[in-house]
Amino acid sequence: MKSQIFSSVLLKWYHQHKRDLPWRRTKDPYKIWISEIMLQQTTVNTVIAYYDRWIKEFPAVKDVAQAKADKLLKMWQGLGYYNRVRNIQKAAQMIVLEFKGRLPDQAEQLRKLPGFGPYTTGAVLSIAFDKRFPIVDASVRRVFMRILAIQKLISPKVDQEIYQYLDQILPLKQVGDFNQGLMELGALICRPKEPLCSICPVKDFCQAYKQGIQEIIPLVKKKSVKEMKAVSGIIKKGNKFFIQQRPSKGLLADLWEFPGGKVESKETLEQALVREIKEELNTEVMNFKKMGQVVHFYTEFKVNLNVFNIEITSDPKTELKHRWVTMKDLSKYAMPSGSAKIVEMLTGD
Ligand code: ADE
Repeated sequence: MKSQIFSSVLLKWYHQHKRDLPWRRTKDPYKIWISEIMLQQTTVNTVIAYYDRWIKEFPAVKDVAQAKADKLLKMWQGLGYYNRVRNIQKAAQMIVLEFKGRLPDQAEQLRKLPGFGPYTTGAVLSIAFDKRFPIVDASVRRVFMRILAIQKLISPKVDQEIYQYLDQILPLKQVGDFNQGLMELGALICRPKEPLCSICPVKDFCQAYKQGIQEIIPLVKKKSVKEMKAVSGIIKKGNKFFIQQRPSKGLLADLWEFPGGKVESKETLEQALVREIKEELNTEVMNFKKMGQVVHFYTEFKVNLNVFNIEITSDPKTELKHRWVTMKDLSKYAMPSGSAKIVEMLTGD
């Protein structure tokens, strides 16, 4: 492939068709960094609101460095992968201490910061500093697996092949636009299903298109989603609800939730509820009434969360941090998305 022609065709298409997104109106490396971490976990449309809120609240690296951890978690609620927001704060604190609050423009220095893997480092260096670094995300991977007609499952080896290829064709200038052009192409044209090949600016370079096999690339292994049943107990005292904070290590660390847990095999929902409340709060369930069910998809499993209004025989006793909070205040606590849906159910939203 003539790499200069490829990049000039792609850049021209990008400049004509790129979406006007908030992080594309800035060259501030801090803002690019935050947007790229958010974009690794969800769609562009979802990120816009999170990004705008975040930048308003924390306009500079030092604001993140000084923020309360709870506040950061709350700003991240719903994005998932909560370790990433903790890493953002650790990195922000290092950037303040070691680089006077400005992101360094050297790969070796960036790579030492928590959360800066090859993707984030490449994105910040190319988009904010216009340095010649490749980036491979799901869109770029799909584009090149099709261009090169790689009929394989996604794997680190395939990524390696793509990185090597990109290293040859990456332009010397406008690298950030080139990288974003590839991502934009993956999002708007080279879509996972029904790619719009007839209007693709680089279809002449595409081996998969020539062979008519674009729809089956990348190959996918059907994976079954694990399903899980869980129970949640809503305990009220006056107008306040009982919530507790998950431990600071492990799954969904530090997030707040209603007591409850997984239903074991051969257990009924009610048995699980009684057992969980005893285990977690060292008290008995006196009365319960099913309120409803919420369903939530996490990355690796689907959770059916069965929600019960319960009365207990004595005050909850737990080692975990816990609070009684009003309906209005519930929304101030960072919760896993499933529990946040329960709050919506309670408030009738
Ligand atoms: N996905 C990841 N980074 C992106 C960016 N800068 N623009 C659009 N989509 C993206």
